[in-house]
Amino acid sequence: MAATARLLPAGAAAPALLLLLCLAGGTRATNVTYDHRALVIDGVRRVLVSGSIHYPRSTPDMWPGIIQKAKDGGLDVIETYVFWDIHEPVRGQYDFEGRKDLAAFVKAVADAGLYVHLRIGPYVCAEWNYGGFPLWLHFIPGIKFRTDNEPFKTEMQRFTAKVVDTMKGAGLYASQGGPIILSQIENEYGNIDSAYGAPGKAYMRWAAGMAVSLDTGVPWVMCQQTDAPDPLINTCNGFYCDQFTPNSDAKPKMWTENWSGWFLSFGGAVPYRPVEDLAFAVARFYQRGGTFQNYYMYHGGTNLDRSSGGPFIATSYDYDAPIDEYGLVRQPKWGHLRDVHKAIKLCEPALIATDPSYTSLGPNAEAAVYKTGSVCAAFLANIDGQSDKTVTFNGRMYRLPAWSVSILPDCKNVVLNTAQINSQVTSLEMRYLESSNLASDGSFITPELAISGWSYAIEPVGITKDNALTKAGLMEQINTTADASDFLWYSTSFTVKGDEPYLNGSQSNLVVNSLGHVLQVYINGKIAGSAQGSASSSLISWQKPIELVPGKNKIDLLSATVGLSNYGAFFDLVGAGITGPVKLSGTNGALDLSSAEWTYQIGLRGEDLHLYDPSEASPEWVSANAYPINQPLIWYKTKFTPPAGDDPVAIDFTGMGKGEAWVNGQSIGRYWPTNLAPQSGCVNSCNYRGNYNSNKCLKKCGQPSQTLYHVPRSFLQPGSNDLVLFEQFGGDPSKISFVIRQTGSVCAQVSEAHPAQVDSWNSSQQQRYGPALRLECPKDGQVISSIKFASFGTPSGTCGSYRHGECSSTQTLSVVQEACIGVSSCSVPVSSTYFGNPCTGVTKSLAVEAACS
Ligand code: GAL
Repeated sequence: MAATARLLPAGAAAPALLLLLCLAGGTRATNVTYDHRALVIDGVRRVLVSGSIHYPRSTPDMWPGIIQKAKDGGLDVIETYVFWDIHEPVRGQYDFEGRKDLAAFVKAVADAGLYVHLRIGPYVCAEWNYGGFPLWLHFIPGIKFRTDNEPFKTEMQRFTAKVVDTMKGAGLYASQGGPIILSQIENEYGNIDSAYGAPGKAYMRWAAGMAVSLDTGVPWVMCQQTDAPDPLINTCNGFYCDQFTPNSDAKPKMWTENWSGWFLSFGGAVPYRPVEDLAFAVARFYQRGGTFQNYYMYHGGTNLDRSSGGPFIATSYDYDAPIDEYGLVRQPKWGHLRDVHKAIKLCEPALIATDPSYTSLGPNAEAAVYKTGSVCAAFLANIDGQSDKTVTFNGRMYRLPAWSVSILPDCKNVVLNTAQINSQVTSLEMRYLESSNLASDGSFITPELAISGWSYAIEPVGITKDNALTKAGLMEQINTTADASDFLWYSTSFTVKGDEPYLNGSQSNLVVNSLGHVLQVYINGKIAGSAQGSASSSLISWQKPIELVPGKNKIDLLSATVGLSNYGAFFDLVGAGITGPVKLSGTNGALDLSSAEWTYQIGLRGEDLHLYDPSEASPEWVSANAYPINQPLIWYKTKFTPPAGDDPVAIDFTGMGKGEAWVNGQSIGRYWPTNLAPQSGCVNSCNYRGNYNSNKCLKKCGQPSQTLYHVPRSFLQPGSNDLVLFEQFGGDPSKISFVIRQTGSVCAQVSEAHPAQVDSWNSSQQQRYGPALRLECPKDGQVISSIKFASFGTPSGTCGSYRHGECSSTQTLSVVQEACIGVSSCSVPVSSTYFGNPCTGVTKSLAVEAACS
């Protein structure tokens, strides 16, 4: 990346990652087997680092960049699920185009010289709509999902075989010279199989046998399946897997999902996982005999279209992953993990040669030593969640911060400690684009983005389609819509004379009970209220006094789903919609409308008219200077010019309610900026020490769960672009703004007590240089243009808000400027030799904030 680099002094070159892969078209098969230590590739046991990147959660033009960043981050393998619903939207009609081009994705990984773990499932969970199952599957007569059921097994086998054949056809298995070294069947079935009883066990064994019969030439795994039959490898998923052991001594210890953060729900706070804890979990896993671990997710991406699972999974699937939703590296997460991977790779010769032997280093402290012949590597862990420790190992003293692992590739020198971050930190910022011609001082400027006026189209209330269906009683939503749309109208009418017992004067209390997920109630064409469930319970019980009129009264209920369930036993049977009761009541009696005649309309009229696709002109659109705002059920449309450059683009939907957005006819997902996270449950700064769980580190309490929505660059075209919104609740489209994602400052803070940078490790010259602070501009062609802050001593704060401490060397700024200004990367030793000693007897650190341009 760096065009010019200044190193004071020069460190040793990083050992090249030698991953020689002969690709399809050319060549030589790779033999993949396993033994009790590791996957064995062409006869050699391998220590592998893997990361999940789901191809439909980004776009083909983003794939090579993301994959390259994964490779630069020290990954050997890319893990992806295969998403059945997008590949077979209609039974027997396959789609492997564009974002769904699985073979192209696998080839892109191969082109980068990495391996692939293909998790076919075909049940995948993944916070994906219906766990990845196509909806038509549900309607096959006699079908029961994920159990010993012939119709289900037939379909599952057919699709699994289709994927395997497609991969074989493209020569993508390692056994054919391709990158796929591993495959998964099912997903975490062991977590829930007891609910399926004996047929569940029979199904699991069938799935294993079926997979093996497809003859891919590479091993299969089942995750979270303690009783996975041979030759399948049972693997672990979780925040930690160091205590896991496979079910046979002939199988390696593998971790298929190390959750690098957690997913976001509409109505939830934003989860994050501190990198010190993630690095600790990774090091502990390799310390305790693991040889394959995968980050779930390494790049999470975006739930485009209506692909998010649910209910209430948000559109962003950022996951706090090392590569952010937009494809930019998240620092220091990416950089620190890269260092951890390098440290572990330095131990690979010892790790593959033998089993570890463990010794206690005192309470909550443990050494694992891999020693045989001339190789020796050791991991020293302090698993105490509170106290740092000094331990003695092989006659030497080692300081171990709480909840950390030190890695010793020669059993003597520490190359890295998981709690000590040498990597730089970069701030990622959203820059709001100027879209008007007037600057704030009234002067005329060239806008960075031109947006035309808005046209609108009213979505009518109630039944407007000819193909509506009338039936007595309330119908479950998913069985009715088959998920062709989020929306189902329920409409009924009744006559009021004026003396009905359910009336209190002209009013009646209406109760509507729904399985969820979102409800709008219209009485005689006017909105009477709305309600929504939440990720923890989608149930809705709405009630309110409503005004009725003499004669005919109409109740129109709009029920909307927000992603179908994707996890749990029988998740496929979790229903949605208004199953009742729907009841009117007054002081003298009630009228239960639950078994009245209801008319049903699947989807919106605007969906039928393809209003989201601006290439199809429609007379529905009204272009006027003024347009209705804060009105439910309305479509909006505008044109805009694409932001210049190649920085990732997003739309801030603040000001809108809830809906879906399309750019040039392609859905960028559901938006819902008015759905707020709970007020409590967040922490200002999360302590990485101690066991992590998905509720431990949350941010943005009391704020919208998601205001920013990614617009992949490839959805944009030069010149005029169309943006269409369907707004369900009401909003003001003039309030939306376009933003680009950019790296702000580049910072780092490194202590004298840290080990040297990992790539200065040199086994022959064991005493390396001391710790160094490194900065690197994030973009090609950039150089460090200014040093905004530099302090050697006891600085405090974080990137963007560093402060000098009581102890601070006066020479720091000039030394750092000298080393760093005008180059794309620099390395500065963290030592009193360079900066003078501003205070004795104190452990000092160097903190720097720089700007690149
Ligand atoms: C796992 C599952 C993944 C994903 C993850 C949470 O249980 O295997 O597919 O859903 O949880 O993000």
